[in-house]
Amino acid sequence: MQRGEKGLDFLRESILDPNAFVEEGFPPNIMPGNFGELLTDTEIETLVAYIANLDCRTP
Ligand code: HEM
Repeated sequence: MQRGEKGLDFLRESILDPNAFVEEGFPPNIMPGNFGELLTDTEIETLVAYIANLDCRTP
């Protein structure tokens, strides 16, 4: 997966089911897998929108 190809669905999946795709260099099973139970749908969508709007480009 290339930078810039990670859309809203990918962000949502990464929060709700973190092991579905694990970024190279990271081991699986580190990120908690229960955010779907801890957060409301509105909180999830707010997080997704927030992360999607971050400017994380490296110089
Ligand atoms: C509300 C809290 C959190 C949010 C919104 C969140 C969101 C995300 C997202 C979107 C990714 C995918 C990044 C990518 O592949 O480009 C990710 C990956 C990751 N997160 Fe979290 N995270 C949270 C909490 C945590 C916590 C508490 C930990 C560990 C204690 C953690 C550990 C990791 C690790 C190690 C990865 C990389 C492995 C992978 O790609 O699945 N996260 N997180």
